[in-house]
Amino acid sequence: MKEYKNFINGKFVDSKSGRTFENRNPANWDEVIGIFPKSNAEDLNMAIEAAKKAYPGWRAIPLPKKAEIMRRAAEIMISKKEEAARLMTREMGKVIKETRGDYQEGIDTALYAAGQGRRYFGYSVPSELPNKICFTRRDPLGVWGLITPWNFPVAIPSWKIFPCILSGNTAVIKPATDTPASAGELVQVLYEAGLPEGVLNIVYGGGGEIGEAMLSHPDIVGISFTGSSDIGRRIGEVCGKTLKRCSLELGGKNGQVVLADANLDLALDGVLWGAFGTTGQRCTATSRLIIEEPIYNKFIEMLKARVEKLKLGNGLDETVDVGPLVNKAQRDTVAMYVDIGKKEGAKLLTGGEPYTEGECAKGWFYKPTVFIDVLPTMRIAQEEIFGPVLSVIKAKNFEEAIKILNGTTYGLSSSVYTNDLNKAQKAAELAETGIVYINAPTIGAECHLPFGGMKNTGNGHREGGWTAYEIFTEVKTVYIDYSGTLQKAQIDTWQE
Ligand code: UN1
Repeated sequence: MKEYKNFINGKFVDSKSGRTFENRNPANWDEVIGIFPKSNAEDLNMAIEAAKKAYPGWRAIPLPKKAEIMRRAAEIMISKKEEAARLMTREMGKVIKETRGDYQEGIDTALYAAGQGRRYFGYSVPSELPNKICFTRRDPLGVWGLITPWNFPVAIPSWKIFPCILSGNTAVIKPATDTPASAGELVQVLYEAGLPEGVLNIVYGGGGEIGEAMLSHPDIVGISFTGSSDIGRRIGEVCGKTLKRCSLELGGKNGQVVLADANLDLALDGVLWGAFGTTGQRCTATSRLIIEEPIYNKFIEMLKARVEKLKLGNGLDETVDVGPLVNKAQRDTVAMYVDIGKKEGAKLLTGGEPYTEGECAKGWFYKPTVFIDVLPTMRIAQEEIFGPVLSVIKAKNFEEAIKILNGTTYGLSSSVYTNDLNKAQKAAELAETGIVYINAPTIGAECHLPFGGMKNTGNGHREGGWTAYEIFTEVKTVYIDYSGTLQKAQIDTWQE
């Protein structure tokens, strides 16, 4: 068990609050992972001050030089991958092959940033006037507040940290209280790689206290947040008033459609992975399965058999498929939605109760759960549950399947299984989601492509790939007139 401190201006510092919180293993309540400071606004102010002081010096360093730090960070991460994955599994419960994947996503994002340092393109555009050139460049904004969730304890902080600081900004990160250790270790990797002090600072504590203080701080230029739509709305509201940049990555109610012509074995593997991977605790998790009528009964039978074979347990055991929920509140939410589903008249196919066999008695386990005969308007088909609960809905045909797929207030990810090329293309065109998968599950985004959603899933930004760099920079348009005369755009006419 380790005692963590805030890391501000390149140094470990005690919190002014004198308060702490514990982080326990959700697969075994007896195991304490670490003790962390429960910081207050004073701690946050110190971190923002340090980031502000570091900004001009950091900004001035040429991008390819900054990128070398990102490359070194990637190398260190490669050497720490196994150790970091084990810590992550102990911290939040998902199985070890998935925490290795989470950490790999962080490595990939660091390597992308390393390349981006020499590929930071602007546009060069002709002028309407002679002897004049026009181009765009991207410049940093200043000090950012990064607020990250617990379900991807390294991947999501990486999506924010690397593009934010490579672009020349400095930052303060507040990680989720369920996964502070993984984020803390990531910050240390960047310093080991040579990051100058103050460029990235970490402050541990609750969203109500630290997050709110971050929103209202005049020296914070932007907030990048991943989490629930309710908190996202609150952040958007405050950032709207203060005109801070804000990028919001919020909830999902992702659907997988299986059409009658699909490869059913492939679709079955897809839905098991999409719905129960990370114990359903992904923004991209499959929480609705929309099956075309002719194969409805058959597919449900296939599904039941496989769901009941999933092995629950401590994620450090390589043979385990599904770990615990992250904490008691999350398991209570799942139990609440199962009650709602039953009351709404959906039929429970399997699961529907906590799992307490053997060593699992000391963890937040819940059986993988499937409801069938769900109607698209039911709450279990509309609201984000963030747990191992799948709602199965019948669709008459392709058109109705797409209508159901789009019939929620969220719009992150969708998946369609079909062997009909025309239907696949049409689905990609019609899906109201930021990400569409054909013959693949709703999860599994790659770090070098835009990631984000439509409707209540966000506010139009895309993390990942080149689009992440658009979040953290301002576009500057530069005109250079080398004619030596006053040339008036829109007024002077071209004479031969
Ligand atoms: C999230 O759930 O917030 O596509 C991120 C995926 C992962 C990232 C998920 N690569 O499922």
